[in-house]
Amino acid sequence: MIYQALLSLVSSAIILGSAPAQALDNGLALTPQRGWNTWNKYGCNINASIILANGKALIDEGLHKAGYEYVVVDDCWQGPRDPSTGRITVDSTKFPHGLKNLTDEIHAMGLKAGIYSSAGSMTCGRHVGSLDHEEIDAQTFADWGFDYLKYDNCFNEGRSGTPKISYDRYNAMTMALNKTGRPILFSLCQWGEDSSYLWAPTIANSWRISGDIYDNFDRADARCPCDDMTTQTCYLQGFHCSVKKIVNFAKSLGQKAFPSAWLDLDMLEVGNGGMSTTEYVTHFSMWAMMRSAMILGNELFSMDNATRAIVKNTHVLDLISGDANGSPAYPVWEETTSTNGTEMQLWFSSLVNGTYAAALVNWGSQDASGQSIDLSTFFVDDAPARKASWDVYDLWAGVDFKQGTVPAKLSKLSGSPFTGSIGNLDVPSHGIKLLRLVPAGTDGKGMSEQEHKRRALQEAEHVQLERAMQWQEDRVNARRMASRGL
Ligand SMILES: *[C@@H]1O[C@H](CO)[C@@H](O)[C@H](O)[C@H]1NC(C)=O
Ligand SMILES: *[C@@H]1O[C@H](CO)[C@@H](O)[C@H](O)[C@H]1NC(C)=O
Ligand SMILES: *[C@@H]1O[C@H](CO)[C@@H](O)[C@H](O)[C@H]1NC(C)=O
Ligand SMILES: *[C@@H]1O[C@H](CO)[C@@H](O)[C@H](O)[C@H]1NC(C)=O
Ligand SMILES: *[C@@H]1O[C@H](CO)[C@@H](O)[C@H](O)[C@H]1NC(C)=O
Ligand SMILES: *[C@@H]1O[C@H](CO)[C@@H](O)[C@H](O)[C@H]1NC(C)=O
Repeated sequence: MIYQALLSLVSSAIILGSAPAQALDNGLALTPQRGWNTWNKYGCNINASIILANGKALIDEGLHKAGYEYVVVDDCWQGPRDPSTGRITVDSTKFPHGLKNLTDEIHAMGLKAGIYSSAGSMTCGRHVGSLDHEEIDAQTFADWGFDYLKYDNCFNEGRSGTPKISYDRYNAMTMALNKTGRPILFSLCQWGEDSSYLWAPTIANSWRISGDIYDNFDRADARCPCDDMTTQTCYLQGFHCSVKKIVNFAKSLGQKAFPSAWLDLDMLEVGNGGMSTTEYVTHFSMWAMMRSAMILGNELFSMDNATRAIVKNTHVLDLISGDANGSPAYPVWEETTSTNGTEMQLWFSSLVNGTYAAALVNWGSQDASGQSIDLSTFFVDDAPARKASWDVYDLWAGVDFKQGTVPAKLSKLSGSPFTGSIGNLDVPSHGIKLLRLVPAGTDGKGMSEQEHKRRALQEAEHVQLERAMQWQEDRVNARRMASRGL
């Protein structure tokens, strides 16, 4: 009886837990968007020819086949607002044939086009912003043929400070985009202010969680002052945030992301020169683990082989394209030892068909050899998985950074299948071991959705049975103590 009642409680909790949250209903970003943006490489020094050259490289490099489909024009495309029509004009030096011509060219390549504005009186580059001009600007972007809007937070005229004020300011654009009738992916860039994790997922396809990234792995910078975006004491989001800082901001936020409402850890810096190949691999891997929007920020037509090998690693990209359920990673444990300079984190995320991804990150200054992943800790919420056997694939194995090549098919880590723990893992300083765990004997495919559900139910029953037994035992003990007058 007790067991039955508890079980039904738990099943309804499971059903409630998996009910889809209210997402922006524009049919876009069912998996995290991928593309390229002008800002990280060029800042304000943009023009039609450089954008089209990068668009062409997306095709020539085969990056579009790996899912990178948006070419996004960031800040500094604008002329002044036309006083007679009220519309924003285009900088005609940078875009002599206008932006409709640009999107036509981008569409002709089989790609999609993105544009940028700010929910402020001016953009961050001090060009005209869209605050209180949402409808006419959204219509202008739609008329020009854009498919994507990145919407920034500069010069917001003090219209921030509570979640409601910020929500209203951004929701005005959500409504305006909808009113155009054109599906336009809404990339909300509000830096995580005013607890945006509480409201941004309901009005945007992706939402920035922090101040801007810069091309640095772990250097602390006072211009990115906060430590935790979820505390009420973090009022200044800043910029110059390192990869390490952003990953730490993201630790708890994955639970607020879901299909069509992804985290945005900011645009990638891979290939821009400020980090080592090892560091860029960690950067790229963790963005994929968090199911972040994956927007390249390097010059695509002059990529070197190491950059190519990273951004074209389809095994890593499969983490985001293959996760229709939306399961951003979270850390299972972290361990800092000052004696030998190691600073390790183990991250967990679930994937389709009862498969999983594990990321063992070494933020420290010393290489870590012979590390292991204890499956009883890794599968802390999943008893059957703890006891199962796993074929393990290293998503960076066989990648040749000198030749810029990625193996079509990964081979199993030697020692597979693993039970109990996955051992002998070497993780260089600032490096990562990114692994995919697949139930042994399924030829790398995992199990059907049905089998996975059956196991989940079995797990719920198992946990409940344990709890019910504990409850009964406690009651017996309580009675015993009562009868002894305690
Ligand atoms: C506008 O919103 C409605 C209701 O949420 C939705 O059905 C429709 O597809 C949206 N249209 C666009 C273009 O986003
Ligand atoms: C276009 O922008 C690129 C990158 O900033 C620059 O190298 C190039 O000279 C510009 N071309 C024109 C015609 O302004
Ligand atoms: C863009 O403008 C140029 C110059 O007028 C023209 O040659 C080209 O055909 C236009 N592209 C498209 C796709 O219309
Ligand atoms: C660092 O030192 C701690 C404590 O001695 C040890 O447990 C750990 O395994 C060491 N880590 C590495 C990577 O050597
Ligand atoms: C880059 O890789 C290609 C093969 O994919 C190779 O031919 C070329 O030599 C490599 N370039 C460098 C600079 O190593
Ligand atoms: C999941 O399993 C189904 C059924 O076996 C299979 O068709 C599908 O390709 C699998 N998906 C992935 C991403 O492996």
